[in-house]
Amino acid sequence: MTDISNIESSTLPRLQPSLPAELYSDPAVYQEELTKIWYQQWIYAGRVDGLSRPGDYRLTTIGNQTIIITLNREGQVRAFYNTCRHRGAELCQAQQGHFKQDRITCPYHRWSYSLEGALLNTPNLEISNDHHHFGLYPVKCQSWGGNIYINLDSSSPLKLGETADPDFTVLDNWPLEQLKLGHTHQFELACNWKIFWENYLECYHCPGIHPDLCKLVPLYKAALATDRIDPGAELADAVASGIESWTTTGKAISLPFEGLSTEQANAGHTFMELYPNQYIVAHSDYVRQVSISPLSAERTRVTTEWLFSAEAMKDPDFDPAPAIDFSKQVLAEDRWVNELNQRGVTALPPQNGYLVPVEADVGLFHEMYSNWMSQ
Ligand code: FES
Ligand code: FE
Repeated sequence: MTDISNIESSTLPRLQPSLPAELYSDPAVYQEELTKIWYQQWIYAGRVDGLSRPGDYRLTTIGNQTIIITLNREGQVRAFYNTCRHRGAELCQAQQGHFKQDRITCPYHRWSYSLEGALLNTPNLEISNDHHHFGLYPVKCQSWGGNIYINLDSSSPLKLGETADPDFTVLDNWPLEQLKLGHTHQFELACNWKIFWENYLECYHCPGIHPDLCKLVPLYKAALATDRIDPGAELADAVASGIESWTTTGKAISLPFEGLSTEQANAGHTFMELYPNQYIVAHSDYVRQVSISPLSAERTRVTTEWLFSAEAMKDPDFDPAPAIDFSKQVLAEDRWVNELNQRGVTALPPQNGYLVPVEADVGLFHEMYSNWMSQ
């Protein structure tokens, strides 16, 4: 097993500075992040099967922007800014609902739009041939694996998955599109969104903060988040012998998904990150999706969704509690350290922290962040 105390002591001079403290609390930095990151990148906006028929809609928020996600008459996903083309009133107030008669109608002066965003009617007013100039502002949207993603950057020709990162193929063997949403859990985290990712990307904290998770994953017990960082490569990125999945019992809650390779089934977990707002953990028996939404410089909403196979959910004996309870325990443990990190990092002395070698992935996240912010 890797001796982390040796790693630390032998490499102390190589500690990397972390980000300057003000980047975690300055409202001006937060606004710049919204513009340069959150309004540029693909953002997870819920499961497709949450919308069951044409005209069903729900709202999703990215920073200061609210977006309407709906299904057109052909059942295809469409997204629009939640603003009327007349004088800009908010179109939808309820977080979810259904557009009657396939019309999106502004409550103010009752201009109405089709499910494609085209202007259909302007009471007491003839706009004649100019109607097409006044359609709703569209937002790019795509689906993958039963998930909807939107992108507010209308100038980028890039489609979801066209860049090398993330590598969507790592989850090819999971039947994501067919999985059903079994449970959702949401809470507000009193920290900057970057603190969430920094904590996610290192397991230096795992032995002290996640004792039960460390019993399941030997790598984490050694304070390593991935086997790439293990200098001796002695530990695989997999669950301990005899452990089947991430549950309170260590046993799987259902049969493994068909189609997984032996390696994938034995690993017990396969991760994929879609920065800046989602990571997916595919286990052999269920999938967990965690997404974040920044609310301010010091507040972040965290939403966790558990996906199960439709067959398992039909079984009257199916009990997902061991999976849900285990994840909630780990989330609560991380919530505690995220929030104490935020409270400490906003102390008055100007400062920055440091990254130890096993936090190398946090350094890569900071590089990505700096690249985004310098554009
Ligand atoms: Fe929407 Fe007037 S602002 S119809
Ligand atoms: Fe953690």
